Amino acid sequence: MSSNGTSQATEQSKVELRNVSKGYGDAWEREEVISNLTLDINPGELTAIVGPSGCGKSSLVNLIAGFERPDSGEILLDGKPITGPGQDRMVVFQESALIPWQTAYQNVVFGPQLRGDMSRSELREEANRLLETVGLAEFKDKYPLQLSGGMQRRAELARALINQPKLMIMDEPFRGLDAMSRELMQEFFLKIFDETRRTQLFVTSEIEEAILLADRVVVLSNKPATVRTIIDIGLERPRDFHMMGSSEAYDYKRQAMEILHEEALKSFKTTGAQADFVDAYSRRNE
Ligand SMILES: Nc1ncnc2c1ncn2[C@@H]1O[C@H](COP(=O)(O)OP(=O)(O)OP(=O)(O)O)[C@@H](O)[C@H]1O
Ligand SMILES: [Mg+2]
Repeated sequence: MSSNGTSQATEQSKVELRNVSKGYGDAWEREEVISNLTLDINPGELTAIVGPSGCGKSSLVNLIAGFERPDSGEILLDGKPITGPGQDRMVVFQESALIPWQTAYQNVVFGPQLRGDMSRSELREEANRLLETVGLAEFKDKYPLQLSGGMQRRAELARALINQPKLMIMDEPFRGLDAMSRELMQEFFLKIFDETRRTQLFVTSEIEEAILLADRVVVLSNKPATVRTIIDIGLERPRDFHMMGSSEAYDYKRQAMEILHEEALKSFKTTGAQADFVDAYSRRNE
């Protein structure tokens, strides 16, 4: 935590996942969700994760956040095994986790106030600065229900950032927002990332979003999730939406789409969806 209350480049952390596997259910009913996954999340980089729906992205988030433990393999944060949740990792989910009876400002200061690890003036200054950064200065005294979906998400960003985590983990944080709010969020988010260059893991189902934001896009396989490919995104920073029209961006998108398409076809074959469909079709007149 910086002593003068302003946000500065924090220590840049790295995460290493080594042969991580995770399944749910017991013995013969066990279903593997993550299989032998090895991945480095590099310091100061934004790593985006994309993958087919239900492939195990949130399960991976839960492991890195420390909410769950892998069955085998290890996850290291700056060389130390992750054994449980910690203030050094902040997670922002799709679902709002704001406290409904507290204003945006109260939500933002809640964590540090509870821990008492910042002076009152430092906390006030930092909360106001962050609310300003996410465009909520005028709305800081509103309750979550008085804020739009996008504003709620921005309040959550501020609430996570005030803890100056070593690692920010975001699991489809902009899902469900309308196109305009989503673009706005991406802009705020890029601004914040450029300001802090805090190591960031960003799960999204939108490939374009992944390319716009990330330094590396990790494409996962179908369940059980493993790394299919990693695409290094060479677009310069600061980023903006115009870059998405470049041939470079188009190439990245095509690479990712090809793999996701292959995975979708595989799932179609292996889940028996095709067989079920043929069966249902043949019975349609019964
Ligand atoms: N706590 C749990 N107990 C049992 N099964 C679970 C649990 N958590 C996840 N799963 C299973 O693991 C698989 C992957 O789920 P997960 O939520 O990680 O996927 P996802 O890639 O995040 O999906 P989405 O794209 O829908 O967000 C699913 O089949 C799910 O049913
Ligand atoms: Mg998920």
